[in-house]
Formats: sequence, structure tokens, C-alpha cells
Amino acid sequence: MADGSSSDGFVAFERVQKSYDGETLVVKDLNLSMPKGEFLTMLGPSGSGKTTCLMMLAGFETATHGEIKLDGVSINNIPPHKRGIGMVFQNYALFPHMTVAENLAFPLEVRKLGKSERDEKVKRALDMVQMGDFGGRRPAQLSGGQQQRIALARALVFEPELVLMDEPLGALDKQLREHMQFEITNLAHSLGITVVYVTHDQTEALTMSDRVAVFNDGRIQQLAAPDVLYEEPQNSFVAQFIGENNTLQGNIQEIQGETCVVKLDDGQVIDAKPVNVTEVGERTTISIRPERVEFNPTKLSDDAHTLKAEVLEFIYMGDIFRTRLRVAGNDNFVVKTRNSPDQVRFKPGEHVELGWLPRDCRALDAS
Ligand SMILES: Nc1ncnc2c1ncn2[C@@H]1O[C@H](COP(=O)(O)OP(=O)(O)O)[C@@H](O)[C@H]1O
Ligand SMILES: [Mg+2]
Repeated sequence: MADGSSSDGFVAFERVQKSYDGETLVVKDLNLSMPKGEFLTMLGPSGSGKTTCLMMLAGFETATHGEIKLDGVSINNIPPHKRGIGMVFQNYALFPHMTVAENLAFPLEVRKLGKSERDEKVKRALDMVQMGDFGGRRPAQLSGGQQQRIALARALVFEPELVLMDEPLGALDKQLREHMQFEITNLAHSLGITVVYVTHDQTEALTMSDRVAVFNDGRIQQLAAPDVLYEEPQNSFVAQFIGENNTLQGNIQEIQGETCVVKLDDGQVIDAKPVNVTEVGERTTISIRPERVEFNPTKLSDDAHTLKAEVLEFIYMGDIFRTRLRVAGNDNFVVKTRNSPDQVRFKPGEHVELGWLPRDCRALDAS
């Protein structure tokens, strides 16, 4: 299902499984291959196995089955401190009794660098995160955002080729989080480091990453670039987890190449693109994004199917209008329209027709 499973990447998981108790698998047959310099995010609900994957890559957990490779070499038997991987966690994990500069020098001492080289690298790392004047402070004398910058500098100070980050911005307020998202991606790209980033925040994943691996239940559900994930979800879980999504239930009535006809449960029919359905009669959940629904039938082809709908709520949001409708028994069908001069402003109780281009509507697993 997930692409990118070839074995020649810089970071590779090959048929990796993990069980903590010898019975249940919390990571199931994971295959993943990352090129050097990629910023890849593991995104998924709590408990889906993201941290476990990162811990196996870092060497703090061992895989129950399968292999993890770094630059083509299996690292299953290499201890964490010899893997040359930088790590950043949500709770910073700075040493409270050391100054900022001492915190940064620590990974260099472990690697037995001399004093002048240490001082130079510490200074450069602090400048990199714009904290050059803070070397003499202790962590308790810094704000949350500053501590997180120091944690980032400490992960980068020994110039690792690979950096792992597990929900590193989770403890920061929204404004600082967005600022740090920008700083981290810029820094990663300018230094050319490879990053595996973990978050449960889809906006963070979509805005920061080259590719996103969507996790659920110990499996990668889809691995793709942000726009592909949003526009071409491969199953109902991904469609529902990423972005806002309207669903309608029905049965496949007809399949012809790139389009199919779906008979919804209230008897109306609509066109869709068959994605992971194969047979006439099969149950399906169709998925359509709120901004791809069309109220103006002249924008659809002459033979397009349309649906009858009732407006339940109309919310003026400035740049867009958000209309909630009842469609085929679903009272939470949302349509977003741009606030353009000719866009109709609906009133609750109005009856309207709506439709879409078949390519924008995906017939997915009934799940
Ligand atoms: N050290 C551990 N011992 C036993 N079970 C664990 C341990 N760490 C995680 N788990 C279990 O493994 C599953 C995946 O957890 P985790 O990898 O932390 O998920 P995520 O980071 O996606 O929230 C969960 O069911 C969790 O309870
Ligand atoms: Mg986690």
C-alpha cells in the first residue's frame, strides 16, 4: 500500500514488527525508505506506533522482527550513542544543573572532542538557533520556546546526518509553535539534514514535511507528499484523518474505468472515482472535500448526477462561506465557497442541488 519501500534509502525500515509483550504487535510489517535530506513526518493518532518506530530507529528499543538500516547498513546491533543520531523530545530533557553551553558541550565531550573545538561548535550551534547570548544561563532561566531552541541546538551540535524529533513543539503555545515549525524546516533544509519528525497535529505535518507517513494501528496507511495525501487519500482512514471531509454511504452500482456510479442509501445516485472498491454491489464510503462541491450546475457536465440538499446553517466567515446541509441523510455535510461577488448566500431551510466532478469524489472502503 505505502510506496517508498525500496531498500536503497538513507533510512530504511524493512518488514519491521514490534511487540512489547510478545503477543500484540504495536508495529506491523513496516516498510519505509527515505532519501538523504528528506523531512519525513510520522503522523497518526495516539497509540498508533509512532514513538515506538522512532525509538527503534534511535536504538532505545529493538525490533521484534525485520531490519532497520542507516545508509545501507543494518543498525540492529549498534548501540544508540554509536548511531550518530540527534534527538529532540517534547520535554526538552535539558540537564537542569548545567548551563546552556555545558548542555551543548555534553554530546561533544561524550564524543571526546577537545576544548577549543567544543567551544567553537557550541558557539556555532547557539548562533544557529539565535541564542548566542544565552550560553551562561541555566535551563530554568529560559522560556519554554528558548529551552526548545536549546534542545534543538543540542541535537544539531555534533552535526548528525539524521535528527529524530518526537512531538518537539507539543508544549509550546500556538504562535511560538508556528514560528518554530518554520525555523526547524528552514534549518533542516539549509543544513541538508535528514529528519524524522513525529506529530499528531496534521497541520504541522502538512506544512513542514516533504512526505508524511500516516499511521494507524501500527501500520502506515499512506505515505505521500502533503498535497497527494489531502487530494488523493487511498482509504477512508486517511480521508477522514487529513483535513475536513464529507462522507456518504452507498453501494457501487456501476464501474467504468475512472468513474463509477454510487447508489446512496436514500436512493439517489452520484458519480465518483473508484479508489479501493472493485465490484458492483460492494459497500462504499464516498469522500468529498468541502471546497470541491459545486452548487452551480452549469459548471458540471450535462449528464452529471446531482443531489438534492437542504440548507441547515449558513456561516459567513469573511473570506469564505461555510454552509452545512442535509444530504442523503447526512446532517453534517459541509460546503465551503469562496466569498466572490456572484456567490449565493443561502438561508436555512432553502432547498438546493449540488454536485461535483467525478474525479473529486472518491469511492473508498466502507470501513
Ligand atoms: N514501553 C512500552 N511497553 C509496553 N507497551 C508500550 C510501550 N511503549 C508503547 N507501548 C504501547 O505501544 C503502542 C504504541 O505506542 P506509541 O509508539 O507510543 O504510539 P504513539 O507514539 O503513536 O502514540 C501503544 O498501545 C502503547 O500503549
Ligand atoms: Mg508518541
